[in-house]
Amino acid sequence: MSENSQVQLTQSPITTGPSSLIPDMSSWREQWLSALNDPSGFWLDKTKNLLDWAQAPSLGCEGDFWSVQQEPIRWFADGRLNVSVNCVDRHLETRADQAAIIWEADEPGQNVTWTYRDLHEQVCRAANVLTDLGVSAGDRVIIYMGMVPHAAVAMLACARIGAAHSVVFGGFSAEALRDRIIDCGARVVITQDEGRRGGRAVALKSVVDEALSSPEAQVDKVLVYKRTHADLAWDESRDVDWESACSQVSAQHEAQAFAAEHPLFILYTSGSTGRPKGLMHTSGGYLTYTTFTHRAVFDLREGDVYGCVADVGWITGHSYIVYGPLSNGTTTVMFESTPLYPDAGRYWSLVEQHKVNIFYTAPTAIRALAAMGDEFVTKYDLSSLRVLGTVGEPINPEAWEWYYNVVGQGKCALVDTWWQTETGGISLSPLAGVTPTQAGAATLPLPGIQPVLLSPESHLIHGPGEGRLCLNMPWPGQARTVWGDHERFVKTYFSDFPGRYFTGDGCRRDEFGHHWITGRVDDVLNVSGHRMGTAEFEAALITDELVAEAAVVGFPHPVKGQGVCAYLVLRSEDQSFGALSDEILARLQAVVRARIGVHAKLDRTIRIPGLPKTRSGKVMRRILRKVAEGETKALGDVSTLADSAVVEAIIEAASKA
Ligand code: PRX
Repeated sequence: MSENSQVQLTQSPITTGPSSLIPDMSSWREQWLSALNDPSGFWLDKTKNLLDWAQAPSLGCEGDFWSVQQEPIRWFADGRLNVSVNCVDRHLETRADQAAIIWEADEPGQNVTWTYRDLHEQVCRAANVLTDLGVSAGDRVIIYMGMVPHAAVAMLACARIGAAHSVVFGGFSAEALRDRIIDCGARVVITQDEGRRGGRAVALKSVVDEALSSPEAQVDKVLVYKRTHADLAWDESRDVDWESACSQVSAQHEAQAFAAEHPLFILYTSGSTGRPKGLMHTSGGYLTYTTFTHRAVFDLREGDVYGCVADVGWITGHSYIVYGPLSNGTTTVMFESTPLYPDAGRYWSLVEQHKVNIFYTAPTAIRALAAMGDEFVTKYDLSSLRVLGTVGEPINPEAWEWYYNVVGQGKCALVDTWWQTETGGISLSPLAGVTPTQAGAATLPLPGIQPVLLSPESHLIHGPGEGRLCLNMPWPGQARTVWGDHERFVKTYFSDFPGRYFTGDGCRRDEFGHHWITGRVDDVLNVSGHRMGTAEFEAALITDELVAEAAVVGFPHPVKGQGVCAYLVLRSEDQSFGALSDEILARLQAVVRARIGVHAKLDRTIRIPGLPKTRSGKVMRRILRKVAEGETKALGDVSTLADSAVVEAIIEAASKA
């Protein structure tokens, strides 16, 4: 630590509890070094204490970031376990009557609590139903649901019978859903009639029907949980009613153990091409890592009520609503609504009502709520809170301070957790009660994570500096491959910096060794914590015959973190550049919504005469990014452009849009 540093570290306002896995900084240092020096030994020891194995593993990690080019890395390969038994059955002896899931429905005041005994019965019944529908180990099941506890049951039932689930966020369009059904070769889709969000119905089953109307997307059965009992089209030969099917099967299910590397789930995420990739996670390593990090980062204690307000459609919902919390036997909250319904006090009323101890959300929600005024927070009793977490995007210092001081009243630990769909679990983060923090820093690595910074030319950056964030060695929670395309997995993550995993993020390391994520350095956008590819937007936009060419870039947005800016070359006689007409804008918004989903929206559109291209035809996105940021002078070297006059025209068009 530098003595004359201007930057202040905030010591954690709390100390760790009696069951802390990493009680202080010296323990963090010792465990981090031990995982670095002997990863297999470290994690074998951890997993035996954290999980119930039907057959304990003797093998740790097999493979490294060189051999991954030939075959996926394996962890605990000779061990056998059942993930669902670890999340449910093993708690029955001591926690059968403890709340496993508290479900807070969209309408305030409507909530339902399921004990571990209830959860066990639901999961067993659903596992029996899936088996009766012909699903068996190794099959894939798509889950397209809202935030109802049945979504967690569906995931755990799949895990119980060894089928890999692929949860598709309930906002994705029929086309996006169809592509995922086809890509993973799903046998069954589990959905619900409708979701509820912010007082409105969200179509789900009808979207599934539309996706399945495509001849390539065929599944055997669609299992439908009726949430709203809306009128639905029903195909008697294909559609199965969840409640009635579950009532006809046994409430017991004998679970079989599967190999540690048995696929647990596939989760599609955006990259730099228009085609989303299905990251595959396996069983033993993933559950070890999520169980460990959930306990260590949040300093989980016996009796805690833990509330993560993400959606099960994203990795945060998988790892830190369902698998990590339930494996740890905690009480996890599932929240169906939005932070603004019926008003900006919804999160805090949830905290007061359920006496939430640990609250985990995204910076975008914090920024939106901070703008609504403190009285929405201060009118509630938030004294149960001990730990606050954020995830999904960089948190700006103002939002951090507001969360810390207004929500946490300066008495809660605040953990800014950096990780990714690919990492499976939290990778850089303060540990609650342990790590001194700074507003906006993801601070230090978890044991098993060795972050390194590299220059674009692959030079290792030592000490303080900024560069591309890579992780240097395997950890148990990492994705093993891209479903059906290992070559793409290798190319995406292990080819820019051979021998290392490239995260796609930029990062600064300060004099304390703390990590500050600066954002994506590739063509991935992070809008309100939702990860989307610029290429996905471009592929959607050019399906409209009016659009000759499209280039999409991100730009800083005060609430969403990043906004989506589309530069468009239109096929039109009218040569007015700048803003689009309301009619064309509405038409293009509808195109991206239909191709991607309700969460895809153009924040800014600029009609331009032509894209800035090099002589070889490559679009110089750097220029477009700078102009979207409001820069008109320092655009860098434009000498390689085929037509440099286009830059002036773009700047002028942007000034009118
Ligand atoms: O850019 C980083 C950002 O979110 C990306 C991963 O997105 P996804 O796979 O959807 O997972 C999000 C939830 C884990 C990262 O590459 N990101 C995530 N957490 C942070 C973050 N950026 C800054 N700070 C964070 N705490």
